[in-house]
Amino acid sequence: MTETIENIEATILNQFKTRFKSSAEAIIHAPGRVNLIGEYTDLNHGFVLPMAIDRYLTIAVRKRSDSTICAYSVDFDESITLEIDNLEREKHSFQEYLSGCIWALKENGYPVFGFDCVIKGNIPIGAGLSSSAALEMAILRAASFAAGFPFNKVEMAKLGQFAENNWVGVNCGIMDQIISSAGKQDHALKIDCNDLSYEKCPMPPETSVIILDTTTRRELIDSAYNERREQCFNAAKIMGVSFLGKADMSLLEKSKSKLSELEFKRAHHVISENIRVIETANAMKNEDATTMGKLMNISHESLRYDFEVTSLALDTIVACSQSDDACYGARMTGAGFGGCALALVDADKEAKFIENVNKCYRSKTGLTPKIYICKPSEGVTLKVL
Ligand code: GLA
Repeated sequence: MTETIENIEATILNQFKTRFKSSAEAIIHAPGRVNLIGEYTDLNHGFVLPMAIDRYLTIAVRKRSDSTICAYSVDFDESITLEIDNLEREKHSFQEYLSGCIWALKENGYPVFGFDCVIKGNIPIGAGLSSSAALEMAILRAASFAAGFPFNKVEMAKLGQFAENNWVGVNCGIMDQIISSAGKQDHALKIDCNDLSYEKCPMPPETSVIILDTTTRRELIDSAYNERREQCFNAAKIMGVSFLGKADMSLLEKSKSKLSELEFKRAHHVISENIRVIETANAMKNEDATTMGKLMNISHESLRYDFEVTSLALDTIVACSQSDDACYGARMTGAGFGGCALALVDADKEAKFIENVNKCYRSKTGLTPKIYICKPSEGVTLKVL
């Protein structure tokens, strides 16, 4: 059973009192995310369409009057102390993210003051639901509260990405941080990763988004991600554009003879996926779950054959989902190679759908999937206590 947000709040506030002998001043929730469509388009300055989910990284915080940050993670049962003026690089669980965010703030000229905090979450870790981006957004929100500067959603998302790219050393795009900071209840966000503007897209009525965790994980996912990134950047260079998000199908056809077969396939995925994001956003505005589902199915095919980031487990769970008559469409989500898929499902039939997919996936792989029904949620929030 997943812990409810109320339970997490109660645990955190109790722990705070025990650890720091005083009460927290504020509580912050930063959500994880699932991407409805638009995979590997963010790093190519294209469009993405994620939604924040009702799974959170929660932090209770209290300002200090010095330049020390004391943090306790309930999930890892681990305490750390950081000196703001003497940050150390240590490959060490959540400390990397905490020091990375503080470093990113300092590098970009923000004031940073000390604080005490207790951290706990209910976003499955390592499943591709962006628990790390949520941690970054929660830490940055805590830091803005402690130092009293305004929390600008897009600027803070950029700082989270900056910390992850340059301190933690993971070359992610900007999607996960923006949706964790700017998500909207009952909506997905169509984000233009070129200028970072975004607009709300309502979920079609009477549908549910179901996250299907294959429970498989791939090692060395970072190097596979970086390899795709390089292939896309090379294709863009050959095509004479700064990023593939600025190319269209006619330019791709014109450039075909100059591209290797692999570069052509990678570019074909990105350019066609970008168009699918725009079409999906339009379908959502028209409350058209059928069209949305079809586009999700095509996206999976493109990720499977053109971009080659699916896996047997992902293909199997997606096929099991698509064969159920409650399902409008299904696809892998996130970086791929393992991790999660998602399905858009008729809300009235979600229980039966879950039972069927569970049975189908188990019989084909011998693995038991983890299945979560997720509600589109608000981005990071702060409540003063
Ligand atoms: C990971 C990255 C995102 C995005 C997806 C693929 O989740 O963190 O920025 O590139 O992969 O769409």
